[in-house]
This record gives sequence, structure tokens and C-alpha cells, in this order.
Amino acid sequence: MSKLVPAVRSGDVLIPALGFGTWQLENEAAVTLVEKALEVGYRHIDTAQIYGNEREVGRAIKASGIKRDEIFLTTKVWIDKFADGDLQRSTEKSLERLGVDHVDLLLLHWPKPEVPLVETLKALNEVRSRGWTRAIGVSNFPAAQLEEAAKLSEAPIATDQVEYHPYLSLKTLKAKAEALGVSITAWSPLAQGKVGQDLTLIEIGRAHGKTPGQVTLRWLIQQGVIAIPRTSNPKRVEENFDILDFALTDDEMTRIHGLAQPDGRLGDWLDKAYAWDAE
Ligand SMILES: NC(=O)c1ccc[n+]([C@@H]2O[C@H](COP(=O)([O-])OP(=O)(O)OC[C@H]3O[C@@H](n4cnc5c(N)ncnc54)[C@H](OP(=O)(O)O)[C@@H]3O)[C@@H](O)[C@H]2O)c1
Repeated sequence: MSKLVPAVRSGDVLIPALGFGTWQLENEAAVTLVEKALEVGYRHIDTAQIYGNEREVGRAIKASGIKRDEIFLTTKVWIDKFADGDLQRSTEKSLERLGVDHVDLLLLHWPKPEVPLVETLKALNEVRSRGWTRAIGVSNFPAAQLEEAAKLSEAPIATDQVEYHPYLSLKTLKAKAEALGVSITAWSPLAQGKVGQDLTLIEIGRAHGKTPGQVTLRWLIQQGVIAIPRTSNPKRVEENFDILDFALTDDEMTRIHGLAQPDGRLGDWLDKAYAWDAE
């Protein structure tokens, strides 16, 4: 089986199905871990203005010696920069901190009602027209807001980056995204480490000689979802990348889907103007 990371068609770009998440990785540790991820083979790095580590991510990319166009780099505009003008200026600052002339994907971090979505999307499209990002997208948008964004945006919405792991069903949003040609990127793909103790995932892993974390990441990419696990442990940087040489059976996929719970959500910072999809 090929060891190449599959790419997921997302609007008009291809996104590597496995990326390295950098939330809560700070200072020199962020540099070291992103360098390690690039050395191991990850070619997709996920950061955000609010993580405070764009400089460190940029330093690691430069130090890796890997050509810029071989790395898929995502950052996210924070919610207080959604007005026309603010968004463009904040993107320019992100590029300065990252030390690049463009990112590959620029996301709106959370939906916010204060600035009309039409204004924010116009600014986001303008940034893309200037060549500061190859693609645009959203994060934490429920199905109704994703549909609205897709309608209002001139350029395709490439992805919706949302919480997704075995303890959460994403049936409604996945169906909507598929109909719109938008990919799903799973944040907290390892349920923030919880999958490590899951008896079902441990048992499935044993059959393949894999850990529960590896089974979970495989389950995500086998659905065509993009996963961006994070770790501060160099050994796990390797472990989480080593998921390309096995496949889960249909029965195993179904068993993992069966772990979804109504209260499985871990990070709920959605503005009360919106509501998560029921399932
Ligand atoms: N768009 C958004 O609003 C949003 C929100 C949250 C996150 N994100 C993005 O998504 C990325 C991933 O999400 P996340 O950081 O919340 O959580 P995650 O990747 O689900 O889990 C990270 C936690 O799992 C542990 N871990 C890593 N590999 C493991 C393995 N193989 N087995 C067991 N445990 C393991 C890590 O501990 P060790 O460090 O000890 O390995 C860490 O505590 C973030 O870094 C960020 O880039 C986006």
C-alpha cells in the first residue's frame, strides 16, 4: 500500500488528508515539533492567529529546507478581525509573522454575528484575489451557516474545519458539505487524547498492530475527512503519521461510528446566535 498521504479535493484545491495541528504549541517547542513533523513527512500544517505561534511555525518551515510549494499551510483569522479592512490587515500581519508571501488556506475561525457574513466574505475573497491565500474556508460553521457562506462567496469554500472524532456524529454537516463540494477538516481528531483509553479502539487496533490513536486517524481519512492531530511528543508525531499502511474493514468503520454520543462535544465556543446540528 502506498505511503503517500492522500489528498482531499476541497473546492478548487487539494488538501493533504493528514496535517499537523499546532494549538497550544508555543515558543521553541512549537518550532521543534513542526520541524519534526516536516521531517517525518507531514506536508500540511495548521495554525491560527489566536494560537500565537505563527512566527514559530514560519521559522520551522524555513529551517526545514522544504520548498514552500510542497507544504500546505493554513491559518485562521480571529473573530475580532472580520470587518472589511481589518481582515485584510490582519492577514498581511499573519503573512509577515509566518515569513511567507501567501498561505494555502485562510479560514474564518468561528462564525460571528456582529459583522455581516457578506462583508467578511467579500474581504476574504479580496485577500484571495490579491494572492495572499490560494483558498478560503470556514471553521466551526454548522450546516446552515456553511450553506450561507457557500452562497455568498465568489470563490469556493474549500473546507469547514470542525470538531470531529469517534464520540461525535457529524451526519448532517457531512451531507451538506458533500452536496456543496466542501471538505471537512477534523479538529480534535483524537478527542484531545481520550481515544487512547477506548476499549473498542484498542481492540480494533490490536487486529492491525496499531494504536487506538492510529485507528482513529485512519477512520477519519478513510471517510475522506482531513485530520490534523496535535502532539507535543516527538514519538507520537511519528505514530500519528504511520496510518497509511493499513485499512479498516467496513465492519470496523461502522463500530467506530457507533461510539458517537449526544454529549460527545469537547469544545463549545459557538456564539449563541447559532446552533450545532442535532447530529
Ligand atoms: N478550528 C478550531 O476552532 C480548532 C479548535 C481546536 C483545535 N484545532 C486544531 O486542531 C488541532 C488538533 O486538535 P487538538 O489539539 O484540540 O486535539 P487532538 O489532536 O485531538 O489531541 C491532542 C491531545 O491528544 C494527545 N495525543 C496525541 N497523539 C496521541 C495518540 N496517538 N494517542 C493518544 N493521545 C494522543 C496529545 O497529548 P501529547 O501532547 O502528550 O501527545 C494531546 O493532549 C489543533 O492543534 C489545532 O491545530 C482547531
